[in-house]
Amino acid sequence: MELIIGESEAISRLKQLIARVADTGLTVLINGESGVGKELVARSLHQQSGRRNRPFVKVNCAALPGELLESELFGYEKGAFTGADQPKPGKFELADNGTIFLDEIGDMSISLQAKMLQVLQDGEFSRVGGVKDVKVNTWIVCATHHDLEADIQAGTFREDLYYRINIIKIIVPPLRDRLDDIPLLVRHFLAKYQSSLGQHEGQFQISPDLMRLFMQYNWPGNVRELENLIQKLMVTQDEAAIIDDLTRKIHGSESRLERKSQWQPDQQILDAVLQDVKAQVAQGLPPLKEVKKRAQAVAERVVIEEALSVARGNRKEAAKLLKISYKALLYKMRDYDIDDDLSSHSGATINIKPTSDSL
Ligand SMILES: Nc1ncnc2c1ncn2[C@@H]1O[C@H](COP(=O)(O)OP(=O)(O)OP(=O)(O)O)[C@@H](O)[C@H]1O
Ligand SMILES: [Mg+2]
Repeated sequence: MELIIGESEAISRLKQLIARVADTGLTVLINGESGVGKELVARSLHQQSGRRNRPFVKVNCAALPGELLESELFGYEKGAFTGADQPKPGKFELADNGTIFLDEIGDMSISLQAKMLQVLQDGEFSRVGGVKDVKVNTWIVCATHHDLEADIQAGTFREDLYYRINIIKIIVPPLRDRLDDIPLLVRHFLAKYQSSLGQHEGQFQISPDLMRLFMQYNWPGNVRELENLIQKLMVTQDEAAIIDDLTRKIHGSESRLERKSQWQPDQQILDAVLQDVKAQVAQGLPPLKEVKKRAQAVAERVVIEEALSVARGNRKEAAKLLKISYKALLYKMRDYDIDDDLSSHSGATINIKPTSDSL
């Protein structure tokens, strides 16, 4: 069994929570950035529960399109679709008396979310093409890197399903918020890969200079990034190259932070809203209902553009800065007609669609 390494306050609390939740059978939602250890937490929940000798079945909801995912989860009956020559149980049935780990649940299609809701409500479902209800005793543990509340706002996640899966929420903090765990993690990964690389214990050490950089870096890829970096270091043995690379990344993000501090959000948002209100009034007084909506849209647009600019056009990074999901950002960019090419935007013309569901 893989252990969760770390003694920071956040990780100690996380371990306590896992121990407390493990035997309750309550649905768990694990949330956190990419690479923080969500899957490790899910496996640990299963290991610490009375279900540990029963299957732990993982399904990646982002890897399959809606219909395939449905038959993967719920199975199918013979003749349900072309090629269904034999009935096949789904992952829910395979995980009976065990645990099903629904990874990346934020990426599940809306129509499948409806079926999931039914399973959570009744503990029953039918196979694709089947009529009989199947009842299972499966512990449901979900994970996502999305901010599901923002996805609900954007209309891509069902609110009722959210309340059903969010009974116990476990937030795995990003590595940059628990830097004191880094030395322990480094030691753990060095030991983990030593034997597979034919090295003996303690043969490979990292220098204090590199450790110092590890403590300054912001680790966007979290523990996975650290693990990969240690592996790379052990294979290439080229510490100088890694020191160079990290130094460049740390300084790059500092200059971006400087840029951010020159930004005057109050002024820019106010200017944009004022300009928009003036333009509206010039065409006759707008209905009052519209005023707040438009002000919010204009303000959001200014902030989104700033985030995209700080992230140098990298939408994933911009979404992270804004603490919304990637999908929610795409919806908002579409609604607010935000161009990919930010350089072409003067900052003065605001072209917001009059009404939008996502506002
Ligand atoms: N606290 C930890 N102790 C030891 N190993 C860890 C820890 N956290 C993460 N890892 C390791 O880091 C890697 C990434 O973890 P995991 O796959 O659980 O992350 P994740 O949050 O599911 O990532 P993603 O969102 O990208 O799927 C794995 O190899 C895992 O074993
Ligand atoms: Mg994962």
